[in-house]
Amino acid sequence: MRNIYFDEGSSCFCIETRNTSYRIGITDGLYVGHLFYGAKIPDTDLSYKTAYAPPMDPIKQARDLCVFMDCFRFEYPGWGTGDSREGALCARYKDGTTRVNLLYKGYAISSSKAPVPGLPATYAAEGEVETLRIDLEDPDTKLAVSLYYSAFTECDVIARRAEVKNNGSEEVELERVLSAVLDMPARDMHGRPFELLTFHGTWAREFTREIRPIGHGTTGVAAICGKSGNRAQNFLGLVSPGITQDCGEVYGLQLLYSGNFSSKVEKSPNEEIRVSMGIHPEGFLWKLAPGEVFYSPEAVMTYSENGLGTMSRNFHDLYRAHLIRGKYKDIERPILINNWEATYFDFDTDKLLSIARQAKECGIEMLVVDDGWFGVRNDDNTSLGDWVVNEKKLPGGLSRLGAELKAMGMKFGIWVEPEMVSPDSDLFRAHPDWAISIPGREPARSRNQLVLDISRKDVRDYLIDALSAVLGSTEIAYVKWDMNRHLSDLYSAQLPSSRQGELLHRFALGIYDLQERLLTSFPDLLLENCSSGGARFDPGMLYYSPQIWTSDDTDAYERIRIQEGAATLYPLSALGAHVSICPNHVTGRTVPFMTRGHVALAGTFGYELDITKLSDEEHDMIRRQVKLFHRFHELIRTGDYYRMDAFRDTGFYDCYGVASKDKSEMLLTMIHVMNQPCAPNRTIHIRGLDPKKYYRIEVVSDSSEKEEKKDETICRAYGATLEKAGLTLPCRYGDFQSLLYHITEIKK
Ligand code: GLA
Repeated sequence: MRNIYFDEGSSCFCIETRNTSYRIGITDGLYVGHLFYGAKIPDTDLSYKTAYAPPMDPIKQARDLCVFMDCFRFEYPGWGTGDSREGALCARYKDGTTRVNLLYKGYAISSSKAPVPGLPATYAAEGEVETLRIDLEDPDTKLAVSLYYSAFTECDVIARRAEVKNNGSEEVELERVLSAVLDMPARDMHGRPFELLTFHGTWAREFTREIRPIGHGTTGVAAICGKSGNRAQNFLGLVSPGITQDCGEVYGLQLLYSGNFSSKVEKSPNEEIRVSMGIHPEGFLWKLAPGEVFYSPEAVMTYSENGLGTMSRNFHDLYRAHLIRGKYKDIERPILINNWEATYFDFDTDKLLSIARQAKECGIEMLVVDDGWFGVRNDDNTSLGDWVVNEKKLPGGLSRLGAELKAMGMKFGIWVEPEMVSPDSDLFRAHPDWAISIPGREPARSRNQLVLDISRKDVRDYLIDALSAVLGSTEIAYVKWDMNRHLSDLYSAQLPSSRQGELLHRFALGIYDLQERLLTSFPDLLLENCSSGGARFDPGMLYYSPQIWTSDDTDAYERIRIQEGAATLYPLSALGAHVSICPNHVTGRTVPFMTRGHVALAGTFGYELDITKLSDEEHDMIRRQVKLFHRFHELIRTGDYYRMDAFRDTGFYDCYGVASKDKSEMLLTMIHVMNQPCAPNRTIHIRGLDPKKYYRIEVVSDSSEKEEKKDETICRAYGATLEKAGLTLPCRYGDFQSLLYHITEIKK
């Protein structure tokens, strides 16, 4: 059966996924309207929703066109037509006029999904996903828009984007091009007003969940710092009041973009809402010559009538199967040790090798040399841009270090921050105009660094050459690509004054071009993006790197909350998570070593500490953790994530599980975060198992190579029993105590 089709009789476009339906209609006056998005419905003809609802089609009531425009549910509203809500497309023509009146022109349905030029996008094999293209055009100005909808049926996701084409004869300035708009009722199926779910944060406090009422007017989240940032995720959720993991309706939208974004909800007087998502219009101005096309980033949206858990799993499945690419997409990633928190800038080859040797002995597979290996970078004041090894610290260069690591059987990774330049660097002295800054004015520094103008091809070419020389100098398996400041003082020496408004988007296209070129030259490279922790953690970057450093806050206690927020949107396989030293460098807190390992297991897993300074007992604990990683990583990387309870809610414990797709096993992590005397009794209702399957639950032992310990069976029960009657939260003594339960299907 086709998942996308056009019902000629009712002029209705139908998009179906496994559990959702989407309907688009065309009025007699050729306006393209949104009819429905939500749980699966049988009818294709929903034209009655516009035909009989006031206001009528403007063909029949021309005297009130303005009222129609103001209330109609548009798929993609132009600006200046009488619709007083925010438009998706705002343009300024040569004569100074601004009206964009988009009318239906035609459509096409294909059984494939094309890439989006220069931008990250979801992908699918030919025949796996159908795509609908609806063409609109302003008959007066010939400014045209093609709307694309691709149905990822199994994940219940629809990917949307817009292409704007200038079919006119004069240049036009685009002031706003959004990716997706959803005009819909402000209440859920049970009449309860939708609330807005977002994630906000700052450095070391990323992914903080917030739910707020949607009042009249406009509310939302945005980034205007030149990257997606840590102040908000470019995600927006509309949720039923009291939303839980498995109750309530949720619409989730995310933008595959790493630059400035705007995600908004606008509530109008008639109790309708307009959800909009796209490139932030502030500071954006794009000139479109006749015949040229502008591509919006892609937005992905999913709907669930069964709570947040389904939304998370839909996004996880989409990102794992249809966004993340490359060699490491479906294989175990190497366990790494990063020297940042171990040494900061104070290291040399001997120190690194001593860390690597001890790490290897504990079962760690890769050494990552963080900041400080290049130029004369002994602190964070110099040398960004000079990607030449510091032979004083590393005599014989990366090639000697690489050879020694290889001989040891360790993989080698390095840190870079290519988009930046230190004013105290050879690169800046040679090319001051390569930095983004306004001629004659002192630019704002951050961490004493400036941003390179990677909208310029010559700058990107330099970076590709410099990085290729580094990566070609020895076998480098992994790169941590950092980006440690916002953009400011916007000006590109290569853009004419009339095109300065293009800089921010061209910067985003520049980062994509750089990473694409690097991966084309080094296809086996494992890339991990990072931006002062999670300040550019977005689905756009996931197209290039299968994992992203979640936060510089490596305190396991903090990570419980940060990773809970991140896992609401992203698969655990994408969350950079390490065991670090205590007292933690960011918070000063001490958490037991084993708990640090259990928390980092719900991510990419690695270490960030001076392993040479640990005790024998701690080394043995690393061996135990490494063993746990190898035992469970396949399940964690590929399984379905179920959040049972969140510390954020309970105030004393946290619990989540990962179930295999066939529901034959689950790894359940239970963390007693804060001990309380006479703590309330709690039942953990284990979701995600097959109610009809019979299971054994064992406490996972932390045996090492040296000491084999058996898992301890605590009960046997049907999946239905484990969900309905549940498990009683075990008592633990002390704070930050964690337990892993392995639940496996057995014969009754
Ligand atoms: C950023 C990163 C850290 C580390 C430092 C190095 O803050 O998030 O992990 O790499 O830069 O300068």
